[in-house]
Amino acid sequence: MASVVELAPSILSANFAQLGADAKAALEGGGTVLHLDVMDGHFVPNITIGPPVVASLRKTLPDVTFDCHLMIENPDEFIPAFAEAGANWISVHQEACVHLDRTLHLIESHGCKAGVVINPATPVHTLDEVLEIVHHVLVMSVNPGFGAQHFIPNSLKKVETLARIRESRGLEFRIEIDGGVALDTVGDIVCAGAEILVAGNAVFSRGDIRENAETLLRAARSAAATSPPPRLRRTATALRNSKSDLRRRRT
Ligand code: DX5
Ligand code: ZN
Repeated sequence: MASVVELAPSILSANFAQLGADAKAALEGGGTVLHLDVMDGHFVPNITIGPPVVASLRKTLPDVTFDCHLMIENPDEFIPAFAEAGANWISVHQEACVHLDRTLHLIESHGCKAGVVINPATPVHTLDEVLEIVHHVLVMSVNPGFGAQHFIPNSLKKVETLARIRESRGLEFRIEIDGGVALDTVGDIVCAGAEILVAGNAVFSRGDIRENAETLLRAARSAAATSPPPRLRRTATALRNSKSDLRRRRT
């Protein structure tokens, strides 16, 4: 059975004039990991926050897990500063790292959990050689750079593939998903095997932040409770496929 589903509110859609208060509200609503999107205007066409903002948030929120998602070129140059500012998890894009293994070890050497991220067009198999050394894999379900985009359904297959590989290789990494997580997508996302759900727009953009987080997490956990274990799910899928093969052969 999938491990406990967690909500990681992404402050990208929060009110930057009151980041601390907005983040606290999302955590009161059940968020357990705070997702911090770092953009440099080069790797992605947008600019957000750097280490000083992370350090300020750390003062306001001393105990929460900070999940720094680096959408930047040359991440090695900035990893020490984010670790120093209070990051707990640091993830880097496979597409941005020429020496990915070295970068992941660099993150660990600064006392943080190392994560790797793949864009929607990047296949899961590009991670084959690093899955043993990462704490989490982050599947982008939108093209990175902006909040409030539409969920790309193909990412569900990637989450399923990762869950399958993890089981077959006896690995431990966690599966995180980022982009377009909302009430209408979260059920499928959780059933595919994602465990850490990043959500910005659905939590911060309108209404009451705490209630939004609560409602989204409730929907996610109820989908997780009714989702069959991955092994049974695969059997069901195999059965469906073999039935449709049979139908095709008959026609
Ligand atoms: C996009 C960021 C996301 C973003 C997700 O590049 O990495 O973390 O905040 O936003 P929503 O949940 O609004 O799709
Ligand atoms: Zn992100």
